[in-house]
Amino acid sequence: MNVLLLGSGGREHALAWKIAQSSILHQLYIAPGNAGTKAFGKNIAMSATDFPSIKAFVLEHEIDMVVVGPEDPLVNGIHDFFLADSELKHVPVIGPNQEAAQLEGSKDFAKQFMMRHHIPTAKYATFTKDTLEEGYAFLASMKAPYVLKADGLAAGKGVLILNTLEEAKTELKSMLSDAKFGDASSRVVIEQFLEGIELSYFALTDGDSYKVLPEAKDYKRIGEGDSGLNTGGMGAVSPVSFVDKAFRDKIENQIVIPTVKGLKADGITYKGFIFFGIINVKGEPYVIEYNCRLGDPETEVIIPRLKSDILDLFEGVASNTLSERDIQFEDKSACTVMMVSGGYPEAFEKGKVITGLNGISQSLVFHAGTSADGPVVKTAGGRVLAVTSYGKTKDAALAKSYETIEQISFEGAYFRKDIGFDLN
Ligand code: AMP
Ligand code: GLY
Repeated sequence: MNVLLLGSGGREHALAWKIAQSSILHQLYIAPGNAGTKAFGKNIAMSATDFPSIKAFVLEHEIDMVVVGPEDPLVNGIHDFFLADSELKHVPVIGPNQEAAQLEGSKDFAKQFMMRHHIPTAKYATFTKDTLEEGYAFLASMKAPYVLKADGLAAGKGVLILNTLEEAKTELKSMLSDAKFGDASSRVVIEQFLEGIELSYFALTDGDSYKVLPEAKDYKRIGEGDSGLNTGGMGAVSPVSFVDKAFRDKIENQIVIPTVKGLKADGITYKGFIFFGIINVKGEPYVIEYNCRLGDPETEVIIPRLKSDILDLFEGVASNTLSERDIQFEDKSACTVMMVSGGYPEAFEKGKVITGLNGISQSLVFHAGTSADGPVVKTAGGRVLAVTSYGKTKDAALAKSYETIEQISFEGAYFRKDIGFDLN
């Protein structure tokens, strides 16, 4: 089959790498892709949110399936766009429709959904600028630290955790009355702070049945010891040592199953990956957030562990036969370390020449932010390369990634040397 994959990050490079191994693939196209994805298909200079151009491309190149990497096209309704178009509706889109994508696109929608279906999550209330005073009163009734979340998509920056009531009130006002995050903060969810260790969990669903994927843990802060500013993710490991069979069963029974059943009960057809951001509070899993896609950099460790043919699974999603498909994973560990541009996540320069990418054998190097300039690969983003390795243990995998990183260079390159530091 001919597949169009949308996106341009490390997640999409890992997906392209895996899709290219499928026995049922004829031709893979990636829009827009990056310097790494073109080894596995044809990069197309087309934005993942330019629906009219995507339509023209799908018809012209006889695309049989569209796989959506990032959240923006989903939250903007790419799935609905295909279903509503008589020329496109036979082409399956792997990724939920606009209503289902609200699990990520609206924190308030996600909280209401979890309450309705008794899915464990932090207590909360939602406010608008008309209920600012009630918001202040709600904050005053809670204990520090205070968690404020912009309702809508805010490029990963919409969650604030504040230590004093004064700061929390100031920020609430700035979000609601001064549109700190634009429209995204016209509603704000205030929720109870949960103390625990976080992990990422994923399921693939056709709307009726589901398959769970292995858990992963990502490292979001720029600095070692989880210090400094938040980033898109500096590394990830899978599996996660504190997640045992009993904890996995709790996640599946208390979170995954009620989510898949809840969506169906609400009349929402969800086809694609569900990302559960989970926090382990004294052995009990709570949902911190949902995303309507795979995580990045989690994909760069989970997809390498997938043994099964990913297009066979996607066909199962498209035709509602996922329950008949087999999903298998490697027992070994996979870990990734992200090489980023100097200065990231604040101002950084792009266009630095990357050397040392040829002749790497013990790691998979997924491009996150690169561009090709003829044969030369240059940096094109904050997160540049995800260096993934396998190992019998997490430490063995990480040691290989760190060795590989020694071979790769670009001006200003930075990476965390302590990925996995908090796990056994
Ligand atoms: P989110 O965008 O919802 O994933 O939130 C970003 C980060 O804020 C999460 O990864 C957590 O580290 C933190 N966070 C969000 N909600 C809570 C909460 N209720 N309690 C503690 N930390 C939280
Ligand atoms: N790694 C977290 C995310 O993809 O949102």
